[in-house]
Amino acid sequence: MQLAKPTLADIGEMQRLIRVFIDEGTILSRSDEEVANAIRSYTIAKIDDAIVGFASLYIYTPSLAEVRSLAVGRNSQGHGVGSAIVEALINEARSLKLKQLLTLTYRATFFSRLGFHELPKEEVWHHKVWEDCIRCKHFPVCNEIALTLEL
Ligand SMILES: CC(C)(COP(=O)(O)OP(=O)(O)OC[C@H]1O[C@@H](n2cnc3c(N)ncnc32)[C@H](O)[C@@H]1OP(=O)(O)O)[C@@H](O)C(=O)NCCC(=O)NCCS
Repeated sequence: MQLAKPTLADIGEMQRLIRVFIDEGTILSRSDEEVANAIRSYTIAKIDDAIVGFASLYIYTPSLAEVRSLAVGRNSQGHGVGSAIVEALINEARSLKLKQLLTLTYRATFFSRLGFHELPKEEVWHHKVWEDCIRCKHFPVCNEIALTLEL
């Protein structure tokens, strides 16, 4: 498995990978333009030249970023790909001198194992709520758990 930065030519394959998770409501849909705008925030995992997973380190402020759109294709899950992607984002966040990471997820134990701690949802940075949550089909009754990692 190799970790890499995607190019704009990878967007179609990235969108196909997460379609199933968008349909089941675990990941928010983003247009090709939105992915392109943030293309430098993504890290992809590849096996034999195929993209098997990715996530975005999306920066909100000079100190705060979110791990978002994390997904690993069903056939590749449970082999450490997701953990390797998040660890790469944590390293990237540290090298950028960010101070705090945030994530909203249904997979809280996955993130706690990587050092994240639960955060009361009222403390989630309000821009996240207004930019993303209002577009989600589960809003405002959301069972996602907010977690944070101090860097
Ligand atoms: C959440 C998700 C990204 C995890 O990806 P993954 O590649 O399966 O993650 P890992 O393999 O690193 O870890 C998954 C589990 O396998 C275990 N594992 C890790 N490496 C392993 C290995 N080499 N062999 C066996 N098991 C392993 C981990 O302990 C982990 O258990 P935990 O979730 O209870 O902590 C993936 O399940 C997914 O895409 N889900 C759908 C979308 C989603 O929910 N995204 C998160 C929303 S932010």
